[in-house]
Amino acid sequence: MPRLSVWMVRAALLHLGCGFTIGAVMLYHKGNPIDPSVWRWLAVHMELLLLGWTMQLAMGVAFWVMPRHPGTRKYGTVWLAWLAFGLINGGVILTALSGWGGAAAYALALLGRVLEAGAALAFAVQIWPRVKAFGVQVSNPKRET
Ligand code: HEM
Repeated sequence: MPRLSVWMVRAALLHLGCGFTIGAVMLYHKGNPIDPSVWRWLAVHMELLLLGWTMQLAMGVAFWVMPRHPGTRKYGTVWLAWLAFGLINGGVILTALSGWGGAAAYALALLGRVLEAGAALAFAVQIWPRVKAFGVQVSNPKRET
């Protein structure tokens, strides 16, 4: 497994652990009310689990298992995938923080979403050349690394 996939899966598991813990607290709160402010964590729960866990796990595994074509760099343009890794985690954290409201909430949410969109773009550009069947001529052959 390439190093980037290792780090993406590790980060995704951290998001999973935090997201499930928050979910468990909210679930408990539904039956045995703790404090109304518990519902502030709902947005964090959704962000961590939908993007931090599910999406990041898919990205990490895709980077690992998508075809590696002969005559090209083994995993493609790897720095773009590292950029996506940084952007998705930064974006998820900022967007989750915005769930608390306050004066900076709107700016945080906007910035978080911009980072997440950047992650999607960087990852799509990185993985695109690998999305083809084995034996299909690659458009920009480079030496294998
Ligand atoms: C991959 C796993 C999960 C995902 C993607 C996920 C996603 C979501 C989403 C999107 C919502 C908002 C639903 C809505 O507003 O209609 C939600 C609500 C909630 N989730 Fe999760 N969740 C996951 C796992 C869990 C787990 C494991 C727990 C509990 C241990 C949990 C507890 C809750 C609770 C209590 C709510 C609030 C439900 C309500 O509005 O009454 N979630 N979750």
